[in-house]
Amino acid sequence: MKLIATCGKGLEQLLAAEIRGLGFDPMIEVGAVAFEAEHSAPAVRLANWKLRTANRVLLVLGGWKASNEQDLYFGAFRLVKGWRGSLFAPEMTLSIRASSSASNLRDVGYIGLKVKDGIVDGQREKFGSRSSIDRDNPTLPLRVRLHRNRATLLFDTSGEPLDRRGYRVESTEAPLRETLAAAAVLASGWDGTGPIVDPMCGSGTLLAEAAMISVGCSPQQLRRRFAFMGLQNHDRQAFQDLKSQEPQFEGLDLYGGDLSEHALLATRDNLDELGLKVKLRNRDAIGSEPPPGGPGLLAVNPPHGARLAAPDWRRVGTWLDEQYAGWARVMVVGAEHDLGIEPTQAIPIRNGPLEGWILTF
Ligand SMILES: C[S@@+](CC[C@H](N)C(=O)[O-])C[C@H]1O[C@@H](n2cnc3c(N)ncnc32)[C@H](O)[C@@H]1O
Repeated sequence: MKLIATCGKGLEQLLAAEIRGLGFDPMIEVGAVAFEAEHSAPAVRLANWKLRTANRVLLVLGGWKASNEQDLYFGAFRLVKGWRGSLFAPEMTLSIRASSSASNLRDVGYIGLKVKDGIVDGQREKFGSRSSIDRDNPTLPLRVRLHRNRATLLFDTSGEPLDRRGYRVESTEAPLRETLAAAAVLASGWDGTGPIVDPMCGSGTLLAEAAMISVGCSPQQLRRRFAFMGLQNHDRQAFQDLKSQEPQFEGLDLYGGDLSEHALLATRDNLDELGLKVKLRNRDAIGSEPPPGGPGLLAVNPPHGARLAAPDWRRVGTWLDEQYAGWARVMVVGAEHDLGIEPTQAIPIRNGPLEGWILTF
């Protein structure tokens, strides 16, 4: 079956490399990477558990031509009526989110309604009863995408987006998304050795993601729930076996710095959730010396956007170049920056509403 892992625009290549690392053959789309799996259940478990840069893992349930509302309805009806297995059992509760592009039908509320009608009528025909709708906490969160008059029905196997790792108990101004922080660390080409340093750590997202990447553990170890766990045929033992293979954090040397006391406390609390200890310094990053034991990873996300005062970019560039020569270096920056040094890689990204770049040196 086909799976689609969605991601922020710009992160497709990094996500594709992760998917290849899991043993699948990635096909890059815009804001997503698709892959085929012979057996969907193990692939769904593995992708949700392991992928660091994905927002969600969607399972393609079927597709049909739908240039008008009848086609849309009957396609869903036939798919459910002919489905083998317990996915559409009436005990499951449903939600449906629709999107439309380059199609005759454009009203996403109406598209969702027609597909829902087709699904529940298909259930009535097959089982004699239908699912109820639960918009907030469904056991079967579905999506329908209408593109060029072709509908695709997808099961969102993640439920909550995968950037909700569960370690962020404290936040600060302008935190990085966890998936983006992981992408930055993966882009840096770091070999996982040496100290991990973020001298403008905010709430500690880059430190947390780098620590998990260095030992190769799942980014989701604190998460209790994925939508696929609500399926009637969910194999608890197989998921337990996957979870029990987790490596431990050992010998990590984490350094966080910030001008804000509040940020340092947030970093300490967030990393504590993961069982990680971090050495914290309340000081100006620019000009500061690296800790002993290097080279390692320098990952930094200087202030950007309207809410935070921008640093003197030329000073940041000189500091990076002089103090951290020989380290794996990655910076997540907003659109405006003039470091005066050439990055080896510049990946355009979005962090919430802000456009920016992952720069590696
Ligand atoms: C964009 S935020 C970092 C967010 C962080 N990556 C996260 O995910 O939470 C930038 C941080 O840099 C800190 N900062 C700004 N200028 C600094 C400086 N010169 N030295 C150290 N920290 C600084 C700010 O207090 C703020 O916490």
